[in-house]
Amino acid sequence: MSDAVIEKVDNDGVVRLTINRPKALNALNSEVLSALEAHLMELEAHPHLRAVIITGAGEKSFVAGADIAEMRDKTPEEARAFASQALRTIKRLETLPVPVVALVNGFCLGGGCELALACDWAVASDNAVFGQPEVLLGVIPGFGGTQRLPRRVGPAMALDLVTTGRKIDANEALRIGLVNRVMPQAELEDYVAELTKQLMGNGPQSVRGAKQAVHDGMDQDLDSALALETSLFAFCFAGEEQTEGMSAFVEKRKPNF
Ligand code: CAA
Repeated sequence: MSDAVIEKVDNDGVVRLTINRPKALNALNSEVLSALEAHLMELEAHPHLRAVIITGAGEKSFVAGADIAEMRDKTPEEARAFASQALRTIKRLETLPVPVVALVNGFCLGGGCELALACDWAVASDNAVFGQPEVLLGVIPGFGGTQRLPRRVGPAMALDLVTTGRKIDANEALRIGLVNRVMPQAELEDYVAELTKQLMGNGPQSVRGAKQAVHDGMDQDLDSALALETSLFAFCFAGEEQTEGMSAFVEKRKPNF
């Protein structure tokens, strides 16, 4: 596995993946995508996974997009294969059973924004810049942006961003719901550490169930999605977490999950 382009640190089931091509502002090329997919396949089998943090190396960029130099000479067939590789990899990230946090420490453009859109949380530094600038390059978003962006921010704002290619700052990203939090860059790491601590304090099966209900329900009609929620809610009562969580409340103590 290529640790050169993706660094992985596993801290008691909180796994941090760092895309490590700072000289190219962590642009996603085939090598990065292959390494990322290999790591994600490992994480799918991780027995004690609790949360995943994905970020970019350096202080300037999360991911500045797909690698333009690599894409420049691609044929339509090669472009299709490249996009398929990226879509498959990003889907693996999105469907990990635990919360996935994008720690956005700078440029979050094109394929970088599409990567962040597949995460459950996005926490951005106040100097972060977002956008889907593909039309400025003569293409459209190809790593899921035309589909996940409208689902996240609504079709009007998504159309604004994908047709103008304009870049927005972190505060506008927060206002339109593209990110969950904006922090001064110096406080970003501490905030994400606090967030993961909070997630780790909750019942691991409940957190997984809550994520599954939201993700799987979003692709269904409301009645089917509500039925899914009922099943997952009832399933909680088959495990020890519910007994512990509710007993702790009644006994006025902290739960021990
Ligand atoms: N692909 C390849 N290389 C990239 C890159 C990218 N997406 N983004 C930046 N780089 C490289 C630059 O070429 C430069 O390399 P050299 O030092 O070898 O010249 C290095 O990173 C630093 O970049 P800049 O000198 O341009 O840094 P800057 O601070 O002046 O500008 C920037 C930063 C505004 C992010 C600018 O680099 C930029 O506009 N990058 C491209 C952003 C973009 O268009 N992303 C979308 C890509 S297409 C896509 O993602 C399609 C899709 O959906 C699949």
